[in-house]
Amino acid sequence: MRLSVLILCGILGGVISWAVYQHASGPSGPTTCSGAPATVHVFSKDALREASRSRLLLVVLGEVYDVSAGADFYKEGSYAVFIGQDSSRAFQDGNFNRTVEDVRDLSVMDILSVEQWRGFYRKSPKYPFVGYVEGLYYDCNGKATDALQEVDAMVAEGRRIEASEDALSQRHTGCNSQYTAESALTTVSCPATKNGLPQYPRVFIWTHEGTKKEATRCACFGLNQQLERGRTELYPDCPDTSPSCTFKL
Ligand code: HEM
Repeated sequence: MRLSVLILCGILGGVISWAVYQHASGPSGPTTCSGAPATVHVFSKDALREASRSRLLLVVLGEVYDVSAGADFYKEGSYAVFIGQDSSRAFQDGNFNRTVEDVRDLSVMDILSVEQWRGFYRKSPKYPFVGYVEGLYYDCNGKATDALQEVDAMVAEGRRIEASEDALSQRHTGCNSQYTAESALTTVSCPATKNGLPQYPRVFIWTHEGTKKEATRCACFGLNQQLERGRTELYPDCPDTSPSCTFKL
């Protein structure tokens, strides 16, 4: 009797210590560099280069996609620069001969080109997301770095400016324009009315919020119309109530 109690206690003790050990060492399976359970694969730069020998792994802003289904684009040639390493800068400048992951020197408008590509891969059913590469944009735990947050803030600002510029161009209807090659003359004109008010062609001049440069185009305005942004000028030798103006560029 005493022996069987001892055996039972031994077995129970073993089970309990095994359970305590399991709890302390965490669930089995991949972990991040800090030991937490990994929810997404994080490649080191070397591991990514190695893994790219057997499948085409493309990087954009630290995100890794398997683009093996697009081997025609990525296996050889210019776009191979995106495989096995982060060359995000080339998504904007088209310089496929160098590997530059940092895009933070771009303007907020130019960074939108890189963002367009990131959006393209995120949405593409052809190219599955496979993880992150540890580097400028993600740490070894797959956590976004300050640099990525900076890029995302620039993207948000670029989008805000883009929307504001779009709204501006929608507010002021563009002119109809006709160029005659023989005379080298351009004629601009406007639809007769907008909201029941007569419209006239004007040179519309404003400062583009993104480039900070002065931009001009022909747009249609009512007489003495107040503007929220920018200013207008009359076309040379064209009266303010003329429905069309003709000039040589
Ligand atoms: C910043 C410059 C550029 C970048 C970053 C770029 C990048 C790319 C990438 C990543 C692809 C593959 C898309 C996919 O996986 O479906 C692609 C495709 C293509 N690119 Fe470019 N490209 C650039 C400029 C150009 C230029 C200047 C031309 C033309 C002269 C061009 C012509 C093409 C064509 C024809 C395709 C194939 C489109 C298709 O068949 O779906 N690209 N480009």
